[in-house]
Amino acid sequence: MAEYKLLFRNIDEPDQHTVKGYESRRGYIAWRKALTSMKPDEVIAEVKTSGLRGRGGAGFPTGVKWSFVPKDSPKPRYLICNADESEPGTCKDRVLLERDPHAMIEGMAIGSFAIGSHLAFVYIRGEFDYSIAIVEKAVEDAYKAGHLGKNIYGTGYDLEMIVYTGGGAYICGEETALINSLAGERGMSSMRPPFPAIEGLYGCPTIVNNVETLACVPHIINRGGEWHKKIGTEKSPGTKLFSLTGHVNRPGNYEVELGTPLSYLINELGGGIKDGNKLKAVIPGGASCPFLSADQVDTPLDFEAMAEAGSMLGSGAVIVMDERTDIAWVTYKLIKFFKHESCGKCTPCREGTKWLTMMIERILRGDGKEGDLDKIADVCDNILGRTICPLGDAAVMPIISVLQKFRGDFEKHIKGKKKIEMEQFSFA
Ligand SMILES: Cc1cc2nc3c(=O)[nH]c(=O)nc-3n(C[C@H](O)[C@H](O)[C@H](O)COP(=O)(O)O)c2cc1C
Ligand code: SF4
Repeated sequence: MAEYKLLFRNIDEPDQHTVKGYESRRGYIAWRKALTSMKPDEVIAEVKTSGLRGRGGAGFPTGVKWSFVPKDSPKPRYLICNADESEPGTCKDRVLLERDPHAMIEGMAIGSFAIGSHLAFVYIRGEFDYSIAIVEKAVEDAYKAGHLGKNIYGTGYDLEMIVYTGGGAYICGEETALINSLAGERGMSSMRPPFPAIEGLYGCPTIVNNVETLACVPHIINRGGEWHKKIGTEKSPGTKLFSLTGHVNRPGNYEVELGTPLSYLINELGGGIKDGNKLKAVIPGGASCPFLSADQVDTPLDFEAMAEAGSMLGSGAVIVMDERTDIAWVTYKLIKFFKHESCGKCTPCREGTKWLTMMIERILRGDGKEGDLDKIADVCDNILGRTICPLGDAAVMPIISVLQKFRGDFEKHIKGKKKIEMEQFSFA
């Protein structure tokens, strides 16, 4: 077992972010190949064969999503790269944006051609000042080098690309809120159906894909879908970038084959738990994923195994907590984040996250009562599956898992009146 550097294989080359550096390492060969020798349906078929699944969180098959765009629609179609990277703990797209932006641009170009789009957007997180400058320059240079613009490679195909700075809210990473924000409206989610592939930006068919997803596409076109399918597991093919944070000796971004055990990432690549402490809990896929306990540390990092273990692969943000961690306190931090980031459109999420924050805060102040945990579980139950977008589920799934696996951490506060001084709450 080892790191498998596919997307990361050139990121340490100092000129990889430049168009010349990227071209010198077989960059834009896949785009030329797709545009000059393949039909859009053949590109979609290749991506379907590869088994590539979205890296933005939900793991939806990319080729299948592309095939949902209606072929007979008279409306323009759009492709949007979701570079919002707003899930707490996730910082892997940023590496691609800053060190290998042309891989994303090439993937976007191929995806645009596959769905018949002539206008693509990079929706990039507003706080990413440094990344924005690099991506803007990369797009400008891709135009100058003839990879974007009019009559690309003499084929008659035109593709324009716009870099749009995001609204600075977690919810703007959710695809329908992102589309509303991009259209100049408030970043709030919309009911689905209709799904964006049918009715998205300006009411037109729109595909939203994550940066990492799109960066995989040139490799698939160059080497074939069958080649990609052999990496990783049968149902979760390919490699995945993981952002490893928390109580580990070597936090960082690592690329491994899907199906690699979580323990390998934490102990071998991450150098094990800091200061020789014992592992207590892991959130494997970002703040919206249920907690795993220490005895689940050998769970393979793939979509199926994580679901079987009661959690999710999510965006690949692995947050490690050692034995000294008060999980009740972590839960408070998480729910306070979701309360702050709720767009407020639907009542269960808007009101429920507020009540959960208040109840958990009261417990941590040492004023918890018997029955509080059942009440918290009841509020979670009334949010789960009852909201417009998945943020509501994301807010309560970690809490539900904590009540099952780390109930004792809450009981210590309730029964022992163990109090955390509010000064310790950075958001308080
Ligand atoms: C609250 C919320 C925040 C999200 N933030 C992001 C994000 O920052 N980046 C991202 O790619 N996907 C994010 N997603 C998932 C997107 O809605 C969408 O599924 C994804 O961009 C699709 O790309 P993929 O198919 O390539 O994974 C978020 C979802 C939710 C519910
Ligand atoms: S679940 Fe929350 S974030 Fe999503 S639409 Fe409802 S209020 Fe907004």
